[in-house]
Amino acid sequence: MAHTDIEARADHSTAIVTGGASGIGAAVAHRLAESGVRVCLVDVSADALATVAREIGPLAVTCVADVTDEDSCAQAVQTAEEFGGGAADILINTAGVSLVRATTEMTLGEWNRVFAVNVTGPFLMARHALRGMVRRGRGSIVNVASLAAHRSLPETAAYSASKAALVAFTRQLAADYGRHGIRANSVSPGPTATPMLLGEAREGAARAGMDLDQFLDLVSAELPLRRIGRGRDVAEVCAFLASDAAASVTGVDILVDSGTAGLDAFALAMTRAAGA
Ligand SMILES: NC(=O)c1ccc[n+]([C@@H]2O[C@H](COP(=O)([O-])OP(=O)(O)OC[C@H]3O[C@@H](n4cnc5c(N)ncnc54)[C@H](O)[C@@H]3O)[C@@H](O)[C@H]2O)c1
Repeated sequence: MAHTDIEARADHSTAIVTGGASGIGAAVAHRLAESGVRVCLVDVSADALATVAREIGPLAVTCVADVTDEDSCAQAVQTAEEFGGGAADILINTAGVSLVRATTEMTLGEWNRVFAVNVTGPFLMARHALRGMVRRGRGSIVNVASLAAHRSLPETAAYSASKAALVAFTRQLAADYGRHGIRANSVSPGPTATPMLLGEAREGAARAGMDLDQFLDLVSAELPLRRIGRGRDVAEVCAFLASDAAASVTGVDILVDSGTAGLDAFALAMTRAAGA
């Protein structure tokens, strides 16, 4: 693949990608490796992790780790530093869990679990990766948040609140570590065709008595760009934010959502009611 300017700048860096065994994380790892970046894939899912690493080849190393466990996060950072021969240049936190549950039905354990993976995980990974980045005087952190941080979805209180917290945490990292040459940004995907979304879509399709493709076509038709995103769409934005091409970009959140956030619920309701 021909190297663009952005890709050339990313060469010879080392990145840590949590959630690298599936969906958006796997797409990010592939995208970075295509630019010559060494990637340390971190995930709880050992078999899927090994598959992605095999696809990427010698630029990938794996670390089976739960991002809610501090020792595991320290181990993941150490693995990346040994693989790259120094501090990691890039940390991309994509590991996350979603939960559709009415607030009155949600247990404290479920609430805490969503926050542990989606907020505490990125905190622990950043805490350990930042030490090397500060020593070296440069680094880029990209946290994968969600459209749910900005717009309400039905019965996703824990998920939405956790992703909004992640956006705020990212902005705070940017403010606190900019003087060390470290940038921090978040990306908020809208609907993206990964195992996480497809699981929810399958349930929706079953309730509506449709097959999955029919259901996804109907959903896509409601979005301004008429398409559900792919992991690669999010990966491209993560790769840009991670690279020196984004040297002046820090503390921002970029929506990658096929225009979904721009939709007004009232206008949508009017259109649906008129078509009904
Ligand atoms: N798919 C979407 O529509 C969508 C939309 C908005 C935001 N996101 C966010 O994008 C990120 C990636 O989601 P995806 O769609 O690729 O989901 P996915 O389920 O395909 O991948 C998530 C990965 O995270 C890993 N993971 C979960 N808990 C972990 C833990 N404690 N420690 C280490 N790894 C763990 C899983 O094993 C899995 O490999 C998530 O943070 C998600 O919230 C996804």
